[in-house]
Amino acid sequence: MPPFQLRPISETDVDALVALDSDPEVMRFINGGQPTPRDLCANVLIPRMLAAATRPGLGFFAVESPDQTFMGWVHLRLDTFEPAWAELGYRLARPWWGQGVATAASRLLTQRAFDELGFDVVSARAMPENGASRRVMEKVGLREAGRFVFPGRVLAGLTVPEVPGVLYTLRREDWSARQGDADAVSLSG
Ligand SMILES: CC(C)(COP(=O)(O)OP(=O)(O)OC[C@H]1O[C@@H](n2cnc3c(N)ncnc32)[C@H](O)[C@@H]1OP(=O)(O)O)[C@@H](O)C(=O)NCCC(=O)NCCS
Repeated sequence: MPPFQLRPISETDVDALVALDSDPEVMRFINGGQPTPRDLCANVLIPRMLAAATRPGLGFFAVESPDQTFMGWVHLRLDTFEPAWAELGYRLARPWWGQGVATAASRLLTQRAFDELGFDVVSARAMPENGASRRVMEKVGLREAGRFVFPGRVLAGLTVPEVPGVLYTLRREDWSARQGDADAVSLSG
């Protein structure tokens, strides 16, 4: 896996975020492949990303290579539907796909949610057809917990229709049990 580091997203990331969202494959299971206009990114999305940092440890984080190349972002934020939960999310540029980066970053954020921030449940949501996203959730230890509907919305002229979604969750006790297993494996290895 390529090495990476996380740092809070900032207003200066606008060009990198617009470039990320300009790849229709990246946006395929977000909004059907539409790019994000720069104005929308700068004036609506980045302020929302910054507002998700409701306490230290939460928010949107740029994923960067050691030479500070922008690889994408991950988030740990209050769950949109269940604010007592911490919700994971991720979006990476295509050259970085398939190398374990989203899984590793999500594990770091999950550990933070349970061990440092005291959440009892970590959640994630995706369109049912988003196999890669669901596989990341599974590898981190989340399990399918139900279906729901992403509400439709219009953002600065961009229409995002109502679409079905799948919810995954992981409870603290199940995470702890998995960590026990991981310790046992590494001790025996
Ligand atoms: C989802 C995303 C972040 C995954 O990032 P990543 O760093 O490639 O993920 P990882 O390499 O850690 O793991 C991906 C897993 O999904 C698997 N996978 C890839 N495409 C898949 C598909 N279509 N169906 C099922 N599994 C798939 C990979 O084989 C891998 O599993 P494995 O390790 O068992 O082989 C990346 O694909 C992405 O940015 N997609 C566009 C944005 C997006 O859809 N974000 C999620 C919105 S809910």
